[in-house]
Amino acid sequence: MAHTRLKIPILSTITTTAIKFSNSSLLHGYRRHICHCSSPVSISQNQQRQPQIRSPQLVALEYADLSIPYIVCEELGATRVRQHVNPLSSTLSIPVEVPNWNDVFEDPKLPLVVDVGSGSGRFLMWLAKRNHGSKNYMGLEIRKKLVTRAEKWAKELSLSNIHFVFANATISFKELISTYPGPLMFVSILCPDPHFKKRHHKRRIVQKPLVEAITDSLMPGGQVFIQSDVLEVAVDMRNYFDAESAKVVFESDLACDNEGWLLSNPMGIRTEREIHAEFEGAKIYRRIYRKLS
Ligand SMILES: C[S@@+](CC[C@H](N)C(=O)[O-])C[C@H]1O[C@@H](n2cnc3c(N)ncnc32)[C@H](O)[C@@H]1O
Repeated sequence: MAHTRLKIPILSTITTTAIKFSNSSLLHGYRRHICHCSSPVSISQNQQRQPQIRSPQLVALEYADLSIPYIVCEELGATRVRQHVNPLSSTLSIPVEVPNWNDVFEDPKLPLVVDVGSGSGRFLMWLAKRNHGSKNYMGLEIRKKLVTRAEKWAKELSLSNIHFVFANATISFKELISTYPGPLMFVSILCPDPHFKKRHHKRRIVQKPLVEAITDSLMPGGQVFIQSDVLEVAVDMRNYFDAESAKVVFESDLACDNEGWLLSNPMGIRTEREIHAEFEGAKIYRRIYRKLS
């Protein structure tokens, strides 16, 4: 599915609701990649009068047809969320309790799509809304407040094919998926936290046990989609999945550049981090792998 960029002619086309909604979105503070567009950039009087588009407004526009009720955004949007949590802390090193799948999905035998590090959850909700009745969606997220808010949004949207789990995905993925009654058809790991310092690389979400759990659990023909706006992180993830060549292969049907990165986003929707990064002019490095039969 080709991705269509939104065209934003003038700020006045953005509704009040959309702007308020955007205020609740999270900007991740990658110091070297951060969006600086919210700070005043006025140099001359003339420039001051120009409307400034900010990347949270682009997120609001891209997700406008999700129609998350404004009242719910108001209620929970101001929630302050810690920018990072330490996945190596003792409380996050224990696998989460497996849910009763009949309680969380209307039909727990449908093929499952898992988003690892689902952030606000809007990306997954957008997909769940479009594929209601044919797929289930599960977001794994280590920041509890984001999970609480995502669950509330999903309920307001009456989505019975989506569930968010407060979990350290690196620790809990295997156990959660092993009990799911249907096949695992798709896993995405999109713009994971980079943890730039070498001594913090072990905090990165993509570690060998998670990669093994994903590649073992996927159904034949199932896919893994990885992407990052940080080349070093993308290469790190790529190396992990390339090493599983006995189980998964690079999806060669999709157009890619000379280095083997996909030319475009195949999902039809960008994640929030992706929108912020592209707004800043960053390149997104993407790969899709397919499970061998
Ligand atoms: C940079 S954000 C990207 C969010 C979203 N995928 C996107 O592209 O907009 C990375 C997310 O992964 C979550 N995360 C980091 N480590 C995690 C872990 N071990 N398990 C689950 N989620 C994790 C963070 O809390 C954060 O919400």
